[in-house]
Amino acid sequence: MAEGEGYRNPTEVQMSQLVLPCHTNQRGELSVGQLLKWIDTTACLSAERHAGCPCVTASMDDIYFEHTISVGQVVNIKAKVNRAFNSSMEVGIQVASEDLCLEKQWSVCKALATFVAHRELSKVKLRQTTPRTEEEKTEHSVAAERRRMRLVYADTIKDLLTNCVIQDDLESRDCSDMVPAEKTRVESVELVLPPHANHQGNTFGGQIMAWMENVATIAASRLCRAHPTLKAIEMFHFRGPSHVGDRLVFKAIVNNAFKHSMEVGVSVEAYRQEAEAHRRHINSAFMTFVVLDAEDQPQTLPWIRPQPGDGERRYREASARKKIRLDRQYIVSCKQTEMPLSVPWDPSNQVYLSYNNVSSLKMLVAKDNWVLSSETSQIRLYTLEEDKFLSFHLEMLVHVDATQAFLLLSDLCRRPEWDKHCRHFLLCQHTTLGGSAIICPMAYEEEPIFLSISIRSVCDLETQSVELVQQVDEDDAIYHIISPALGGDTKPQDFVVLASRRKPCDNGDPYVIALRSVTLPTHRETPEYRRGETICSGFCFWREGDQLTKVSYYNQATPGFLNYVTTNVAGLSSEFYTTFKACEQFLLDNRNDLAPSLQTL
Ligand code: COA
Ligand code: ADP
Repeated sequence: MAEGEGYRNPTEVQMSQLVLPCHTNQRGELSVGQLLKWIDTTACLSAERHAGCPCVTASMDDIYFEHTISVGQVVNIKAKVNRAFNSSMEVGIQVASEDLCLEKQWSVCKALATFVAHRELSKVKLRQTTPRTEEEKTEHSVAAERRRMRLVYADTIKDLLTNCVIQDDLESRDCSDMVPAEKTRVESVELVLPPHANHQGNTFGGQIMAWMENVATIAASRLCRAHPTLKAIEMFHFRGPSHVGDRLVFKAIVNNAFKHSMEVGVSVEAYRQEAEAHRRHINSAFMTFVVLDAEDQPQTLPWIRPQPGDGERRYREASARKKIRLDRQYIVSCKQTEMPLSVPWDPSNQVYLSYNNVSSLKMLVAKDNWVLSSETSQIRLYTLEEDKFLSFHLEMLVHVDATQAFLLLSDLCRRPEWDKHCRHFLLCQHTTLGGSAIICPMAYEEEPIFLSISIRSVCDLETQSVELVQQVDEDDAIYHIISPALGGDTKPQDFVVLASRRKPCDNGDPYVIALRSVTLPTHRETPEYRRGETICSGFCFWREGDQLTKVSYYNQATPGFLNYVTTNVAGLSSEFYTTFKACEQFLLDNRNDLAPSLQTL
C-alpha cells in the first residue's frame, strides 16, 4: 500500500517544534544540540511504541546536516522503526524545516539510531515489524545489513587506523603561524538531574549529544575565532549508561584542521560523587565543523599544531577518518545511478562496498512495481523499468534445501560445473554500454547463449576460468572471471567481481548473494581482455518448505540490455528459461554434495 492512502506506520511518531530564540546558537540558528535532543526524543518514543517498554539509545549513525534552521521556522521530525532485531531496533528519522511564510519545506538531515529495549528482570525479545510499503520493505531489508556494519564499526575503524599509512607534512611545516591545538582544549562538567533523564533515571542520549555538541563548538570556535557550523557527526555508540546524580566530564579538542573543515573530538566520562576515581568512559564522538561567510561559503581555516604524543596521533587519525568518512559517505549514501560501475577496492572501503553490494540488491528486490512478463516451465520472468535501468528477475521453485542452494551458488569457482551437460559455459556482459554482468550459468543444448544483446553471434566459446582473488572475510570474496570473446569481438572478457553472501537475519529474510564489479590494483584492465562490469546482480533464496526453495536471479541492466530482455519478454526467445533451467539442474544434481569449504553455516 502506498503512503498517502490512509496508511500510517504504527510505529511512526511525529514532532513539530517552532524554533524560538531560546533554541538558537551564537549564529541565531537552531543549535544542533537542541535538534539532537528533539531527534532522540522522537526516535525514542517511536522505539518505545513498538517495544512497549522503556528504551535507551545504543548508537547513532553518521548525520550530515544539509541546512541550518532559523528562528521562526518549524522543525518537523518523523521517526519510525525500520526493523526490530532481538532487543534492539533501528529507528529511521527524517528532519525537515518549514518556512511558514513561504510555505516551503527543506530536508535538514536523515538519521538512523539504534535503541535497545530494557525490562527490569528479563531480556527483551521484540516482536518483528511488518513492512507494508515499498519504502518500508526496502528499509526493513537493508536495516539488517546496516546492523552488521554498525556492530563491526568500532573494530573496522580501529583496524583501518592501525594499518593506514598516513602521510602528512607535520614535520616540514612552518610551525610559527599555526594555532597550537592546546588552545582549543575544553573541559566541562554536567550534573545529571531528573529533567535530563527518563523515568528510570537513565540520561537521555539526546541530552548527552547536546552537551557534547556544546563543548565541541567551544573547541572549534577557539581555533577559528568565529562562529562555526556543525556539518557532520560521525557514527557513535553509547558504551554504557549514566544516571541521575552522575557527574559527566566532557573533554574536547580540535584534532585536525583541513583547509575548510576541522575535526573536533569529544570524550565523555561519568562518575558518582562518592567514587570520583572510578570514571566510566561512556562515549566518544567526532564532529566536523566549517566556518561559513556571509554568502554561506566555507572559509579557510588556520593550520593546527598538535601536541606531541596523543595530539599527533589524533591529528593523523583525523586525516584517516576524513578519508574513511568520504569513502563511506560516497559509497553508502550514493544513489545507484550516480555510482561508477566499478569502484576501487581497498581496505578502507571494503566494509562499505560490501554493504553497498548487498543493499543495492536488496533495494532492487524490495521494489513493488515488478511486472510479471511471462511464465514458461514454471519459471517466471519479471521486469522493472526505472530511471535509466531495465531490470529483470527470474524466479523458480527448486526441490532443494535453501541453505544448500545458497552455498552451491555462492561459490563462483563452481560455476564452470554448471554446464556439465552442455557444450558451453559463458559469463558475459555488454561492456561498451557499461551494462551489467550476468554471472549466471549458461547451459544450452543447441547453441550457446548469454545474457547480452549480441547473443546470437557468439561462437567458438571455450571454457571460462574463475579465480578466487581474495577471500575478504567469511562472506565476501573477490573473483577474477575470464570469459570467452563475445560475438564480433576478438578479445575474451574479464570481470573483477565482489561476491557478498548473507544468510537470513530472521525468518522471512532471504539468503542473498550479491555481485558487483570492483577494481583492484592487482587486476587492472589489460590489453588482453575486454573489461566487463556489473552494477547490481545476484541471487535470493527463500525457504518455502523443507527441501523447497524459491530461487530468484536479479539483474539491473543498462539500456544496452533492453533489446535482449524484450526479446525474451515478448516470447521471441526462450534463452532466459533455458539458462535458469540449467541452474535448477545444477542445484538438483548437487543437492547432497556440499563443498567442505562452504559448510560454515
Ligand atoms: N550499535 C547498535 N547496536 C548495538 C551496538 C552498537 N554499537 N552495540 C550493541 N548493540 C545492540 C546489540 O546488537 C544487541 O541487539 P539485539 O539484542 O537486537 O541483538 C543489543 O545492543 C544488546 O547487545 P548486548 O551485547 O546484549 O549488550 P551490550 O553489552 O553491547 O550493551 C547497550 C548494549 C546499548 C545496552 C549498552 O552499551 C548500554 O547500556 N549503553 C548505554 C545506553 C544508554 O544509556 N543510552 C542513553 C545515553 S547514556
Ligand atoms: P582517541 O584519543 O583515540 O581519539 P578517546 O575516546 O580517548 O579516543 O577521545 C576521543 C576524542 O576526545 C579525542 O580524539 C579528543 O579529540 C578528545 N579528547 C580525549 N581526551 C581529551 C582530553 N584530555 N582533553 C581534550 N580532549 C580530549
